[in-house]
Amino acid sequence: MVRVEKASRIKDLPPYLFAAIDKMKAEQVAKGVDIIDLSIGDPDMPTPPNIIARMKKGIEDQKNHQYPSYEGMIEFRESVANWYQKRFNVDLDPGEEVLSLIGSKEGIAHISLAFVNSGDIVLVPDPAYPVYSIGAKFAGGEPYFMPLLKENRFLVDLKKIPDDVAKRAKLLFVNYPNNPTAAVADREFFAELIEFAGKHNIIICHDAPYTEMYYDDNIPISFLEIEGAKEVGIEFHSLSKTYNMTGWRIGFAVGNSTVLDGLGQIKTNVDSGLFQAIQEAGVEALEGDQSSVEEMRRIYQRRRDTLVTGLLEIGLKVESPKATFYVWVEVPKGYTSAAFSAHILNKAGIVTTPGNGFGEAGEGYIRMALTMPEHRIAEAMERLKKTGF
Ligand code: MLT
Repeated sequence: MVRVEKASRIKDLPPYLFAAIDKMKAEQVAKGVDIIDLSIGDPDMPTPPNIIARMKKGIEDQKNHQYPSYEGMIEFRESVANWYQKRFNVDLDPGEEVLSLIGSKEGIAHISLAFVNSGDIVLVPDPAYPVYSIGAKFAGGEPYFMPLLKENRFLVDLKKIPDDVAKRAKLLFVNYPNNPTAAVADREFFAELIEFAGKHNIIICHDAPYTEMYYDDNIPISFLEIEGAKEVGIEFHSLSKTYNMTGWRIGFAVGNSTVLDGLGQIKTNVDSGLFQAIQEAGVEALEGDQSSVEEMRRIYQRRRDTLVTGLLEIGLKVESPKATFYVWVEVPKGYTSAAFSAHILNKAGIVTTPGNGFGEAGEGYIRMALTMPEHRIAEAMERLKKTGF
């Protein structure tokens, strides 16, 4: 029997946030608890039928059974460019400025390998999607956390980043509409970000999978809409949330061609591209009937209103999100994030994500995802009312 010793890069890593939550969920289910799962941001609704039909056709096509191209089919990259033009009025060269990804998580996890040397700093928001800092660490980089605070509308405060830190930084991650706080960024913020990146020679990685989940005509913008964006960075996007395709693994990165080239160089060495039938289905998603996206927004809006009204009635502090399907709830006095999350799981069977799971600055909050039908959300609120805190 060999003595198996994990590499130090993973030895001290805590379990991946959502894998740990899955385990807690499974324990409750095994006990027979009827859980209401508001934890991971995984849409509960099916992929629209036109996308499924396109996939069925693509699967029958023998030319899709061989290796795809590394950078993605040109047809898929063209449809991404067309979508960016229509949605954001941003021009992209599909040949040079669009790269397909096996889900945006894959690109986010790999980008640091392309640009970060041992000891370089990667600027990461806190709270945030854990993959930004984990990818940085896998590349030997040091994450430097930029707290997202309520008093700053959960925007990164660039003025708080010390000069010596900025000097050592290679990448800066941002994400708006934001997971987990649901904050949205305006043009001024992105303009400031572009100036900061230019001054300190830092590559901006904007993670933007939630731009299509918005309410009341608060339509989010793309970072690439702002002048100078393409000179300093890229934007990650995904079909997962907009088209209920989390299981399909299809995303893309757009923007600065040299940055995309670096990411592509890593990818050619670690993966062999994205199954072409999925890319064909992706073309259908981006170019086909968009009525399912409007319907999705209406459904999430009703869920949001049910959840937020319920939470306020119970006496919890919460702001109604303008975008994303996340609700960032302040925990009541006397509880930590973990304690409150455990309390409502054990007493009411409601699964949430403790804010500190997204970083230290998330302490004092829990995140609820609108990924359950409205009647289950209403039931969760009834259970919470009875449970109290
Ligand atoms: C989340 O719940 O934060 C996200 O859904 C996780 C993901 O997109 O991988």
